[in-house]
Amino acid sequence: MAIHFFENQGVFHLTNAHLSYILHILPNGHLGQLYFGSAIPIDEDYRYLFEGAPRPMTTYVFEGDTQFSLEHTREEYPVYGHSDYRSGACRVVQPNGASILNLEYVSHMIQHGKPALPGLPACRATQAEAQTLEILLKDQVSGLKITLSYTIYEELPMICRHAEFKNDGVNTLRLQKAFSLALDLPDDNWLWHEFVGAWSRERHLFKRPLTPGMTAIGSTRGHSSHQFNPFVCLTRSHTTEHTGQAIGCSFVYSGNFLIQAEVDAYHTTRLLCGIHPENFEWALRPGESFVTPEAVLGYSTQGLNGLSQAFHNLMRNHLSREPWGEMVRPLLVNNWEGTYFDFTEEKLLGIAQKAKDLGLELFVLDDGWFGERTHEKAGLGDWWPNTKRLKNGIAGLSQKIRALGLKFGLWFEPEMCNQDSDLYRNHPDWILQTPGYSASHGRHQYVLDFSRQEVIDYIYQLMEQVIRDGELDYIKWDMNRSLSEVYSTAYPPHQQGEIFHRHILGVYQLHQRLLDSFPQLLIEGCSSGGGRFDPGMLPYCPQIWTSDDTDAIERLFIQHGTSYAYPISCIGAHVSVSPNHQVLRHTPLFTRAAVALFGTFGYELDLMQLSDDTCQIIKREMIWVKIWRCMIQHGQFTRLRSPFEGNDVAWAAMDLTKSKGVVGYYRILNRINDRFDRLPLPMLNDMEKYRICEVAEDFSEERPIGQYSGKTLKEIGILLSDPTAGEISKYAGRLPTDFYARLFTIEKIA
Ligand code: DGJ
Repeated sequence: MAIHFFENQGVFHLTNAHLSYILHILPNGHLGQLYFGSAIPIDEDYRYLFEGAPRPMTTYVFEGDTQFSLEHTREEYPVYGHSDYRSGACRVVQPNGASILNLEYVSHMIQHGKPALPGLPACRATQAEAQTLEILLKDQVSGLKITLSYTIYEELPMICRHAEFKNDGVNTLRLQKAFSLALDLPDDNWLWHEFVGAWSRERHLFKRPLTPGMTAIGSTRGHSSHQFNPFVCLTRSHTTEHTGQAIGCSFVYSGNFLIQAEVDAYHTTRLLCGIHPENFEWALRPGESFVTPEAVLGYSTQGLNGLSQAFHNLMRNHLSREPWGEMVRPLLVNNWEGTYFDFTEEKLLGIAQKAKDLGLELFVLDDGWFGERTHEKAGLGDWWPNTKRLKNGIAGLSQKIRALGLKFGLWFEPEMCNQDSDLYRNHPDWILQTPGYSASHGRHQYVLDFSRQEVIDYIYQLMEQVIRDGELDYIKWDMNRSLSEVYSTAYPPHQQGEIFHRHILGVYQLHQRLLDSFPQLLIEGCSSGGGRFDPGMLPYCPQIWTSDDTDAIERLFIQHGTSYAYPISCIGAHVSVSPNHQVLRHTPLFTRAAVALFGTFGYELDLMQLSDDTCQIIKREMIWVKIWRCMIQHGQFTRLRSPFEGNDVAWAAMDLTKSKGVVGYYRILNRINDRFDRLPLPMLNDMEKYRICEVAEDFSEERPIGQYSGKTLKEIGILLSDPTAGEISKYAGRLPTDFYARLFTIEKIA
């Protein structure tokens, strides 16, 4: 049993081998929190952790009692203004303008497994894998009921949370804030880690200590965004990648979000996570419900790698679309950086034939195959083949690609249209725009109003036909601009605050309908690269294009940052041409491959331009990748060195039994006559013996380096010193350069 209720104490204790989360019913009936942290015994009474103090300027709940103030209480779903002056988890406005709620405990239910969230992405669990506690709270004045839901996994240091609002009163209530999670922590001695960026520079790690006041990240762009990812970590100052306490908070949602930590005057911390309240208001009529998206709390005492590995496990096995979580991902070639819009059927077939010869498995035709789409300004929304370019349509091209022995996939951008499209000409009112104001464009395109069912139905029917006619195995679902002037003419004025959320629910609905019709379809998410790289997309898109920046060195930062929350199996990574198209950097083919290997691997360049020698290398590389890809994508990933801290990066992936693995080592700039260097491998079993080999740059062999015990490799590691010490003319082996990579394999000796 992971969830215990001690009726005589009014205490709930959620626990497994990793953590304890203890809640209690407060003297005023509200739900309070006693503890969140490492697992502690269930047979002790923890109510002494509920502290109060008679502090001047405090307001107290009960007349004559100067101990109990919500200002000094750790609460589970706090409401601002009821003796608590910190930011609340919800704000609900009643017809008389009041926004105070008195949320009192009514009842609770404990069940095995985890119920699904209607219309929303959420983690899954079988009856044996998790237990769920639902606690019903009610405000007697308004009739509002809120059910707080907590799922604890048996094996994982994870708690999933969300809230459901039900209007049991007689008046419409206006929900202006409805967060998914509040977590009050007793101190503020935390470092905040956030994953920040812009287009082509996604998820760079920044950290800062919490200080009094607010620390927050969020998006108001209608998608989770390139700017801030819906994931934060809190660590102690001494926490490392391998040791120490870390808390992670991930929001399973793809629209506007806010994650905020508030440090108050008494140095406690309140973490809040949910839909961004900016531009959010939901009219909850009598009898109606509103379900918040899910937020996940993770906890580790094994540092940031321990936290990441737990999130990877959760996302791979309990969130990503089944059965793709653990399935082999096809090695793909995508024509975008190879041809952009400039292609003919002959050119595409040439690339496809070459891809087959090299050992790739899936050909993806990117933007430009439909409507009048030969450039950015036209065609979006007209999802039928352009037969001027592809004379036999998508079905004809698909047959030819399949005849080569490849799978076939296509690019779509379902949520958008250009003004120069039949869709817009026929339905100009189908875009999001505010009456009387001009609609801003982004990349010459406009956002369709997915809060309207007829819009989704129209796009569904067009996509369904192409997927069926083309027998598609894969689609890349792109989304290339943020939302603006968000307003739907299909809804009355008092529901305009619902449109952002309704839009993203529409996006989820379209994904789900397509997957219901084509259960085998692999959808790769994308939003100008990684603008919607979030857990909310994973139940539909088990892999997501990580960034439009395909330069291997930029990718070291982007993929490293992404790995804090997301497993390798969802990180889309391709080898592109050198010099690179985004930063014009020249990098060796081996480095580009060694970086892309830590992702769902593919090529994105004009394969017809490669020399015969390069093709021979790639052929060998594909054989190697096919042997190792499952282990890398689904194994345990460990960060060994960080690009955010120095010139070198190292990553490792081990299978879950710790019997084989791959280590990638990357050095950004060459250094002359540098220090002797060792790379300890802390993820091995002490008692086992391992054979270490180095993969040759042309993938022709794996050269044995030696055999060592796990303990030795953990304490000492692989030697990485530069054997030339800068005197390259005297050295006959592989010369170190800028943008240099090495790959090692590890195999347990039986
Ligand atoms: C943005 C994506 O991130 C690219 O990979 C490519 O698909 C283009 N859109 C096509 O317009």
